[in-house]
Amino acid sequence: MGYLPIRVSTLKSDIQLGFDVYIQLPHKVLMYVRGDDDIEPHRIGYLKEKKVRKLYIADADEGMYQEYIDRCLNEAMSDDSVSIDEKADLVVGAGEATAERIYEDPHSKKSYDAAQTTAASLISVLGQNDELLKGIFDHALEDENASDEAIMQKHSVNTSSLCISFAEFLSLPKDSVEFLGVAGLFHDVAFSQFEGTDKKLFFKEIGDMEVSDLTRYKEHPKIGGEILQDKEFASAEVIGLILAHEEKRSGNGFPNKLNTLTPEQEVLSICALYDREITCLKKTRDDVLEDFSMNQIGNYDLSIIKKFKSFVKKAGL
Ligand SMILES: [Fe+2]
Ligand SMILES: [Fe+2]
Repeated sequence: MGYLPIRVSTLKSDIQLGFDVYIQLPHKVLMYVRGDDDIEPHRIGYLKEKKVRKLYIADADEGMYQEYIDRCLNEAMSDDSVSIDEKADLVVGAGEATAERIYEDPHSKKSYDAAQTTAASLISVLGQNDELLKGIFDHALEDENASDEAIMQKHSVNTSSLCISFAEFLSLPKDSVEFLGVAGLFHDVAFSQFEGTDKKLFFKEIGDMEVSDLTRYKEHPKIGGEILQDKEFASAEVIGLILAHEEKRSGNGFPNKLNTLTPEQEVLSICALYDREITCLKKTRDDVLEDFSMNQIGNYDLSIIKKFKSFVKKAGL
């Protein structure tokens, strides 16, 4: 039997699992909780205390696991005794697990399906709770020496959440919100195709890059789009958004130096930029907003920049 790792952070106590959960010991894999049971709070506490981050399920149970995550999220969101931090914990855990899959297995239908499920649950939970977006943003990386991969997973979840909330704030159509949620998770999928020092470009200021590095970096939207281009399960809207996520209205973006953007393209470009500055380049929110006022005028529609600022303020980011 093949096993699939799942994150402990996606498990919620007192909710029936529906699939067996296993734990990896040095020399064997042991049954940890049976599927007709739920996980008791002290067992989750114990795992967290022991810094066990992953458990395992049978490959065949993946669909049941996705369903369970959905149930946990919905249950947690409607439960007033669950704090906003705990809610954000669950949402981020589920989102980052999906982002991890996307980066590890970008071509598969399963990763794309997981992105769609995650985007749908983000839309539902963000719509139910005004403070959640801030909770997601404030959710610290698990440790300070987080790997580049972990930072990119967080960037994906943040960008997707921001896109969803900002698109709702602008009253974009429901379809657009869904495409933006998926595209937010996938937009930098090309990170998975970069090797060694090229990967570091995702954490570097564009202005500080050598010419050859910049040329390489500018290929990432196209490489990302190409991953999904020949897949019948991927939507054309999502592919188009990935391709255009680094474009600006001024023609200063890349790779195609577009000078018009659809509202959806503009939302993704702004949200991905905002979170790159914060999560990948470690800038403060104040500095990023100042940069928006000083350097992004012309890159985006002025009224969109204004709306983005009031959106960020309203969300308490
Ligand atoms: Fe990007
Ligand atoms: Fe990005």
